[in-house]
Amino acid sequence: MPEWLKDAVFYEIYPQSFLDTNNDGIGDLQGIISKLTYIRELGCNALWINPCFDSPFMDAGYDVRDYKKVAPRYGTNEDLYELFAKAHELGIRVLLDLVPGHTSDQHPWFKASASDEPNEYTGRYIWTDHAFKGIPGRPYISGMTDRAGAYMLNFFASQPALNYGWLKRTESWMSAVDSPEAQATIEAVRDVMRFWLDHGCDGFRVDMADSLVKNDDEKKSATCAIWRNIRRMLDQEYPEAVLVSEWSNPEQALNSAGFHTDFMLDHHHNGYNTLLRDYETEGGDHSFFKKDGNGDILRFLEDYQPKYELTRGHGYISLITCNHDTPRPARTLSPEELKIAYAFLLTMPGVPFIYYGDEIGMRYLNVKTKEGGYQRTGSRTPMQWDSGKNHGFSLSDSPYLPTDPSADAPTVQAQTGKADSLLETVRQLTQLRHAYTDLQADGSFETVYAERNKMPFVYSRGKLLLAVNPSADSVSIPLETAGMKVFGINDASLQEGILTMGPQSFAVWKND
Ligand code: NOJ
Repeated sequence: MPEWLKDAVFYEIYPQSFLDTNNDGIGDLQGIISKLTYIRELGCNALWINPCFDSPFMDAGYDVRDYKKVAPRYGTNEDLYELFAKAHELGIRVLLDLVPGHTSDQHPWFKASASDEPNEYTGRYIWTDHAFKGIPGRPYISGMTDRAGAYMLNFFASQPALNYGWLKRTESWMSAVDSPEAQATIEAVRDVMRFWLDHGCDGFRVDMADSLVKNDDEKKSATCAIWRNIRRMLDQEYPEAVLVSEWSNPEQALNSAGFHTDFMLDHHHNGYNTLLRDYETEGGDHSFFKKDGNGDILRFLEDYQPKYELTRGHGYISLITCNHDTPRPARTLSPEELKIAYAFLLTMPGVPFIYYGDEIGMRYLNVKTKEGGYQRTGSRTPMQWDSGKNHGFSLSDSPYLPTDPSADAPTVQAQTGKADSLLETVRQLTQLRHAYTDLQADGSFETVYAERNKMPFVYSRGKLLLAVNPSADSVSIPLETAGMKVFGINDASLQEGILTMGPQSFAVWKND
């Protein structure tokens, strides 16, 4: 396990929406470079940049046309190498987004694969052996190519599935997982990884990491075997490199596949969903961090705790404020509610991720779809730096997406230096995490007090005791422990065996 990951706090950047330095309306790598100090001052020491590779952008870049070339709209490969170098000078690691499950249908591999003349790439994608034969139960396209077959999709229509073989083969056209063509796909992915790692990147967030082998078994054994081998390659050749999975099944991703950390994603009704976005259930918003939501931390813990116990020692679980696919937490939570939510997320074990703009409480905007974003587009609007044109994102008259038109649109400028702003609270929280190893990825985690539908939630991390009360009411419970308060948001006290948490409060005590 690379040592740096233990104290990592990630910042996710959607490059098209971060900062435009050449006034073409689209964010670029030089924009990210110019904000590295901001990121470091926020307390983030690692970046995940969404795909920044050449692409027709039918899925915001998750449809890669050339894995080894930076999309011209973001700059050049040299800009990315410069970004790696400047980030490293500031102690920031940089993860790129690896999309191994599919490419764009504009990728030269796919164009060659779609030819009716057999060639090196004939088996790179999944094709049936007849133009009129589809793939039952799977998305596929037929009739669009000279090749007489239907090809399988991994996501949108523009994203054909790369061929890693099928574990259970029911048709003669299904490659075996150890077939030369499936092995060649794996080699191609390794080659892409080596290319960027050799140029200074520190690892990858892996898109749809569980999607490689088709008809895999329930445990995803064949897909896990591929990743285990890739992890072995990293351990041998790039021991400091890190793999983060989009899997949301930590037992498979960490224990079997060998990822260093796995996201707990916002899936309807899972534990993570109950924290910030439980507004689609009957009877209102029951999110734990909604002050009048009457939330229940056990709904989170019942999902999280077993996963945490099972995966301890293998890898980490990553809790996120949001990502580019998920509604921003500020869609329903106020800045005061967000402070308490972030205090929790940034003091849990594993490796936390802050999505750009969440540190200032950027809102989910009702905007038209862009580049295959659909409802996700509202979480992808440009970063709001200041009160200038397009909130400082771009001087262009036609920015990639609009910024928040409201008079009180949150900005970095307005919140910088304001002691009680969300931004300054996030800075204090990341500082707190860096100051105590007990709060970092490996520190122990135990529940001290958690009762159904009751506040507060009290937990310990090593020698630290933490309590959180997102509700609008003051609550008290008996708690026999002493300690020195080292951090607090709003009123909280621990005296003579009574813990009292004021409305919307969070506090940390240190036991010696
Ligand atoms: C997950 C990514 O996060 C999402 O944005 C993308 O559309 C799909 N995978 C397909 O690559």
